[in-house]
Amino acid sequence: MKVLVTGGAGFIGSHIVDVLVEKGYETVVIDNLSTGNKAFLPPEVTFYEVDISSDSIDNIFKKELPDMVIHQAAQVDVSKSIKQPSVDALSNIMGTILILETCKKYKVKKFIYASSCSVYGETGDVSIQELFPIKPISFYGMSKYTPEVYIKLFNEQFGLPYTILRYANVYGPRQTPKGEGGVVSIFFEKLMNQEPFVIFGDGHQTRDFVYVKDVAEANVLALQKGKNETINIGTNTKTSINELYSLFGKVSSSLPTPHYSPSRSGDILYSRLDNRKAFELLGWKPITTLEQGLVQTYNYFFS
Ligand SMILES: NC(=O)c1ccc[n+]([C@@H]2O[C@H](COP(=O)([O-])OP(=O)(O)OC[C@H]3O[C@@H](n4cnc5c(N)ncnc54)[C@H](O)[C@@H]3O)[C@@H](O)[C@H]2O)c1
Repeated sequence: MKVLVTGGAGFIGSHIVDVLVEKGYETVVIDNLSTGNKAFLPPEVTFYEVDISSDSIDNIFKKELPDMVIHQAAQVDVSKSIKQPSVDALSNIMGTILILETCKKYKVKKFIYASSCSVYGETGDVSIQELFPIKPISFYGMSKYTPEVYIKLFNEQFGLPYTILRYANVYGPRQTPKGEGGVVSIFFEKLMNQEPFVIFGDGHQTRDFVYVKDVAEANVLALQKGKNETINIGTNTKTSINELYSLFGKVSSSLPTPHYSPSRSGDILYSRLDNRKAFELLGWKPITTLEQGLVQTYNYFFS
């Protein structure tokens, strides 16, 4: 079984690749290395340094004939999406449609898509179910949602099977301080440089932090399960940014002081994903607690 991972040299993509290789899948990666790192990839992997919008994608599919595609490649910076909505849309919407067309042409058997909790927008302090209304408050949230509709139409029109996974805030080793779930890696960067931790707003805003290796497992399970479904991947646990700061105090004895700054446009106040569907359909549960995950991330950054 051959799996092609777009964005496979990135933070989440490279952990997915690790699980695929470990489980014996033949693995091909497409990545333009805009934020990814080739050094994250194991030697067994066939790697193409190429943009998902490039004409050469067709030739890569023709040569590799992947059975399944896991699509992670995206512009992941929410602030950038606010400043340059068209750049964000070109990458996330047009880029995904181009990959879908190629999947259709080469008769890919399943398409797994990395969507995001940002599609829900502001929900209030509740456990968010997949059927909640879609109300993104950033262009990034919109550019992660629009491909979901295309994916469903590709299924209806051309029979391309899919699973859409809506991730909560993913954190862990290899994460760069940019991007969607970045607060944990930003705090680690500040810790390394002994600079103040910047907290936007009053720090009472909550996130659902899910460990990257758990997210990678969900993707590999989705290769075989959850056909034509949209599934939250989170812990259903809320952690405020102030609580996250305190947890860092358990991981490191030399914690820089917090510095409070005005909240940013496009940032959600509360986020917590109901994960029952993931368990029912994929048999997936997060197994790493935030404290365990922070220790493992600390060991990565400080070893
Ligand atoms: N990190 C999170 O908390 C989070 C939450 C929800 C959803 N997601 C989604 O998960 C996916 C992976 O995100 P990540 O956090 O690992 O970010 P990342 O930036 O580490 O990974 C994205 C990868 O895609 C590559 N890439 C970007 N644009 C590309 C293009 N046009 N062509 C080819 N390669 C391209 C980058 O070089 C990088 O390797 C994204 O689709 C993102 O929207 C992430």
